[in-house]
Amino acid sequence: MDICHTSVMLNELLEHLIPKSVEGLMIDCTLGEGGHTEAFLKTYPLLHVIGIDRDTGILEKAIARLAPFGDRFTPVNAWFDEFLADYSGEQPLAVLFDFGISSYHYEASNRGFSFKKHEPLDMRLNRNDELTVGQIINSYRQERLADIIYQFGEERYSRRIAAAICQNRPIVASDELAQIIWKAVPAAYRYGSIHPATKTFQALRIAVNRELERIIPALERAIDVLLPGGRIGAISFHSLEDRLVKQLFRQAAIGCSCPPQAPRCMCEPRPKIRLLSKKPLIPSEEECNTNPPSRSAKLRLVEKFEVTHA
Ligand SMILES: C[S@@+](CC[C@H](N)C(=O)[O-])C[C@H]1O[C@@H](n2cnc3c(N)ncnc32)[C@H](O)[C@@H]1O
Repeated sequence: MDICHTSVMLNELLEHLIPKSVEGLMIDCTLGEGGHTEAFLKTYPLLHVIGIDRDTGILEKAIARLAPFGDRFTPVNAWFDEFLADYSGEQPLAVLFDFGISSYHYEASNRGFSFKKHEPLDMRLNRNDELTVGQIINSYRQERLADIIYQFGEERYSRRIAAAICQNRPIVASDELAQIIWKAVPAAYRYGSIHPATKTFQALRIAVNRELERIIPALERAIDVLLPGGRIGAISFHSLEDRLVKQLFRQAAIGCSCPPQAPRCMCEPRPKIRLLSKKPLIPSEEECNTNPPSRSAKLRLVEKFEVTHA
C-alpha cells in the first residue's frame, strides 16, 4: 500500500502521551493514514484505539493498514468535534489531535489542495457537504473573500488577491487559481520562502471545512471524557490553530469560570488539567531535515487531574 504521509513528532508522542497505565483506550481524533495509531498499537499491546477521520478516502487507507490489529482498532467516519460531543463510551487514557490535512490530500486526493496541480477546486474533507472551494471562489463577494483569506490565511495581500479572483471568474482548477494569485501579488513577494498562493490555499481549506471552529469544542469535550490521569496531545501547524489550543489549555489549567469581562476572579477556580510543559514541544532538527512538513509543528501536552482541584 502506498503511504503518503510521515507522522509528525512520533517519538515525542510515544514517550509522553500514554500515562502510567498502558491498558485502555486511546482516541486518535485525526487518524489520517493511521501512522500515529499504528505506532501506538505496536508499542502498547494492551491499547485499543478509536480512530476518527472525516475523509472516507483516507479512512479506507487507514482501515487497510490497521487490519492486522483486528478488533484493537475501531474506525469512525465523523468530524472529531461531533463525535466527541456525543461520546459516552469508555473513558480514554489518551486523546490525540494532529490538526490539518495529510500529505495524501496534496498528493493523491485530486481535490485541489495543491496549488502545483491541475485539479478541481474542491478541498472538502466530507464529500457529502454541499459547499466546495470552487463555490466560494466563484460566488462570494469580493470583501467576504478578502476577509476569509486574511482571517484564515493571515495573508497581507488578501484584498489584492480577492480582487484578482473576482476579475478572473469563473476559475475551475487549482493551478489556475495559483497563477491568478501569483500575478496579483507584488513581484518581490513571488520569490519569498513560500509560494504566494500558500496562505490563500490554507485559508480556503480552513473555510470550507470550518476547521478552526471545531477545535475549542473538541478540546473541551476531550478534557471532559478523558480518564483522570489521562493525557491529551495536540499538534498544530500554524499560529491560528496553536493560539486556540494554548488558550483553551491555559484556561482549563487555571479553572476559572468567571466571564471574560469580569474585573477579577470571583469564582473558586477548579483546574481540570496540568500543562506538561509551559512551552510546546517542537520537532528535532533531524526530524525537520528528514520530514520538512514537520518544521512548523508544535505539540502541546496536558494531563487531567485525578481529582478536580478546588
Ligand atoms: C495531519 S493528518 C493526520 C495524520 C496522522 N496522524 C498520521 O500519523 O498519519 C490530519 C487528518 O485529520 C483529518 N481531519 C482534519 N480535521 C478533522 C476533523 N475536524 N474531524 C475529523 N477528521 C479531521 C484529515 O482528513 C486528515 O486525514
